[in-house]
Amino acid sequence: MYMVLLGPPGAGKGTQAKLMEERLRVRHVSTGDLLRSAIREGTALGMTAKRFMDRGELVPDELVIDMISARLHDEDCRAGAMLDGFPRTVPQARALEELLGNEGLRLDHVVSLTVPEEELLRRATGRRTCSECGAMCHLVFNPPMRQGLCNRCGGVLFQREDDREQTVRARLEVYEKRTAPLREYYRDRHLLREVDGIGPTDEVLRRILVQLDVCR
Ligand code: AP5
Repeated sequence: MYMVLLGPPGAGKGTQAKLMEERLRVRHVSTGDLLRSAIREGTALGMTAKRFMDRGELVPDELVIDMISARLHDEDCRAGAMLDGFPRTVPQARALEELLGNEGLRLDHVVSLTVPEEELLRRATGRRTCSECGAMCHLVFNPPMRQGLCNRCGGVLFQREDDREQTVRARLEVYEKRTAPLREYYRDRHLLREVDGIGPTDEVLRRILVQLDVCR
């Protein structure tokens, strides 16, 4: 199964993708995570991407398309992938169709998570990530039991550079301008399923699975 998770920053794409990866045994592929790991490794891609990401802008299409093309050719994506954060522009959506089409494959589902802007801001600015295991928590919705430390492994928590309020606002604007048109693009192709992203995470997961016809 090849599936795309659409949604603005903080909509819960990463949270739901991790839950679905366990449930459906489909590999979670996040372009944001791939780019952040390129930054940590100090690659040429990472250094270029950082300049855009720190400002809340999109990394140029050609760089992201090459990166995702390489990732989708990995063995663990042969049976399917859950794409989180890709595509984000119409040219990226066309490139994905071509990539899959070249292998005789096609996209099966596009799930778009909808969450009001105020809530998106609260979620993104309150998010903290573990520097050791990468687990996410939220200062209010899922707070750390020991201040500044990860509930899962005790590692030190940090705030993503692009989760500061001004950058989150910039990312929301970029989403509206460049990514939101993909809803129309996928609606026209009868692939779009809109899911309310408000509520407990397991309830949001249930709504997605109902849309995918995996549970009732
Ligand atoms: P990326 O890492 O993809 O960021 P994003 O899409 O902006 O999404 P987020 O990670 O902020 O949010 P999310 O929807 O995954 O929510 P999450 O589950 O974490 O991209 C970062 C940057 O990389 C981009 O700005 C761009 O520069 C670049 N980039 C990436 N892909 C690109 C592409 N294809 N083309 C060009 N550039 C690209 O949840 C957020 C918080 O809310 C967490 O704290 C979580 O605990 C909490 N939460 C989740 N669900 C709930 C719930 N139901 N109730 C309460 N709290 C919840």
